[in-house]
Amino acid sequence: MNLHAFVLLGLTGLCATDFTPPVVNISLDVSPEERWLPLTHIFDINYLRESAAKIIDTTVPKWVHHAIAPIVEGLEKYIPQPYVREIQGMASFYGAGIADVVLLNFAYEITAFCTSVVAQDTKGHLYHGRNLDYPHVDILRNLTIDILFIKYGEVAFRGTSFAGYIGLWTGQKAKKFTISGNERSQGHWWENVISAFLLKSSPVSWLVRETLEEAEDFQDAVIRLSKVPIITDVYYIVAGVWPAEGVVVTRNRRGPADIWSLDTLHGKWYRVETNYDHWIPPPHGDDRRTPTMTALNATGQENIDLDTMYQVMSGTPTCNGITVYTTVMSAVTPEKYKTVVREKCHYK
Ligand SMILES: *[C@@H]1O[C@H](CO)[C@@H](O)[C@H](O)[C@H]1NC(C)=O
Ligand SMILES: *[C@@H]1O[C@H](CO)[C@@H](O)[C@H](O)[C@H]1NC(C)=O
Ligand SMILES: *[C@@H]1O[C@H](CO)[C@@H](O)[C@H](O)[C@H]1NC(C)=O
Repeated sequence: MNLHAFVLLGLTGLCATDFTPPVVNISLDVSPEERWLPLTHIFDINYLRESAAKIIDTTVPKWVHHAIAPIVEGLEKYIPQPYVREIQGMASFYGAGIADVVLLNFAYEITAFCTSVVAQDTKGHLYHGRNLDYPHVDILRNLTIDILFIKYGEVAFRGTSFAGYIGLWTGQKAKKFTISGNERSQGHWWENVISAFLLKSSPVSWLVRETLEEAEDFQDAVIRLSKVPIITDVYYIVAGVWPAEGVVVTRNRRGPADIWSLDTLHGKWYRVETNYDHWIPPPHGDDRRTPTMTALNATGQENIDLDTMYQVMSGTPTCNGITVYTTVMSAVTPEKYKTVVREKCHYK
């Protein structure tokens, strides 16, 4: 059974095992309306439509959905290119309203918990690990995809996302840098929508995608991710290809609140970011930071690589019941980019 059949035929009834998500090529050389069509070769369109409806139902209260749909539809004209045309295209092949596709894209903006780690080994190589956690994990496991973004016929950058979502929370520009985003504050999604359109700011995941497409190198990426206005607070974790190129940017909507770099000269060979400012202790009810650091300390700088990073990301509670996927990546060896959809962390 090939992977696509596996995804279509279903995961229920099998015992829970981790799996590799499908890989899809999305060509930026194709018009925005049509570039997401390859999704329909991988996923059943009815399944995509039902999943989108489920995500919206569980995220947006019904009365709000009804009240806001016409407004969101009107806001379409404020969404920047190419995103509005991608959303229009997606809506037409989903057979959904524009408002629903817009809401779907904003629904994901609100409740992502995550752990990201950037680490440098004793030879100066950088490794980046990330877990993406989300409450509606069962739906999203089925929708997780690795995307190769093609430009002028070649892979320009890649990332991990969900079918129907046009932004990126995780991505890599080969030989240049890797980025992950972790949620910082639990804003109300409608505040984010308003901020997006009235203040003309980008959703945080669109800035990740733009940075992957446009930034020249690590430093350029960090500057863009620090400065460009965005709709809500977030943490951006970035790793480059040269020693010391590892950073956690803590963002406010308007600019950086803090920039926290690796400091290997003083033994700080890794940085761990979950969903809390690094300068304050994490809450007792959700301390994923300390166990992740303990695992990194146990691994040791001389042993860190993509395999051991994957093990660190698989520890408890770094990987937990709502972890959708783990990605490990290192821009200097772009072919080793690896995403695994997690089914097992449930049972730990
Ligand atoms: C995941 O996909 C399979 C088959 O497509 C389906 O049977 C299962 O119910 C899906 N899970 C969710 C939560 O949608
Ligand atoms: C995706 O595009 C790349 C670069 O053009 C190509 O090498 C690869 O075979 C394509 N993969 C698929 C699944 O079409
Ligand atoms: C990890 O090691 C560093 C350096 O030895 C130490 O300062 C830190 O407290 C350790 N953290 C944990 C959680 O073990």
